[in-house]
Amino acid sequence: MRSVRVRAYCSSANLGPGFDALAVALDAFYDEVEVRVESGSGKVIVESVYGPYANQVSNPTTVVGAVKEFKQFKGLGLEDVDVVIRLFKGVPIGSGLGSSGASAAATVVALANLFYPSIKPEEMVYIAGLAEAYAAGSPHFDNVAASTLGKLVALAILDKGLVVKKVDFDAWFAIAMPVKNIFGEGKTKAMREVVPKTIELRKAVANWSRVAVMMISALQGDLETFGKMMELDEIVEPARSKLIPCYEEVRKAAKKANSLGVTISGAGPSIIALAKDKSHAKEVAEAMANAYSKCVEAIPIITKTAPQAHII
Ligand code: HSE
Repeated sequence: MRSVRVRAYCSSANLGPGFDALAVALDAFYDEVEVRVESGSGKVIVESVYGPYANQVSNPTTVVGAVKEFKQFKGLGLEDVDVVIRLFKGVPIGSGLGSSGASAAATVVALANLFYPSIKPEEMVYIAGLAEAYAAGSPHFDNVAASTLGKLVALAILDKGLVVKKVDFDAWFAIAMPVKNIFGEGKTKAMREVVPKTIELRKAVANWSRVAVMMISALQGDLETFGKMMELDEIVEPARSKLIPCYEEVRKAAKKANSLGVTISGAGPSIIALAKDKSHAKEVAEAMANAYSKCVEAIPIITKTAPQAHII
């Protein structure tokens, strides 16, 4: 019997104009996945789901999906073993903090350690992103890239596979997170459906130019410019923000507290702002949570960027 336990942190995807292309790993919450291999007949067994957010897991689809996609991608039959999983669910579900992605990333990194240590990081991200489709309806790779590799990541989808780059970006973020899962199951799928299917070239240029500037700013440690670009999404944020209660009020509160930039975290409903340092993050997070709580009860979270998924 072999087993391994892997921790993967939560993440915030998009960071404004970088829809499906940018994300940051955050040390606010984490999932852990323990994978055990036993002789058997090719089954995937989720033995237990526990931890603070276990009761929100109706069906650990991305964990099971990650095992299926891993076996398929690597052509591993594994017909003579059962893969037994224990999931510690430490990332709140439906919050916009990459909960399903953290589970998928932890599962894939654990499987890689057990069955395919020579796997490339980009292949792990690819497999975990395919597993996201089990929860979100279509694959997306940004959350899993951050949870797998840590810090700030940017990715490009190719005809076959991905290119993923990581920047060692250290920063403090403020988050206002609704206490309850206000959108319920299927949130990411629904929030992906409201994103415009076609866009004007002018808007596309606006967004990709801002993403390019963000990445160079991150490399230069220029938080101010990074933050300024973060709040200039012309495509996704305008469509989604209408569905987030008190969004404008929370945005204004973050700006009043001099945040460097504010936007929707992933598909929402959490709202994330870049701060100058830890104490500024606290100030911004409290201002945002107060404003949010006028519509739905929300809590302030401060967090810095997190490392890659790792064995514990
Ligand atoms: N890029 C994805 C989206 C992230 O915005 O739909 C979901 O967390």
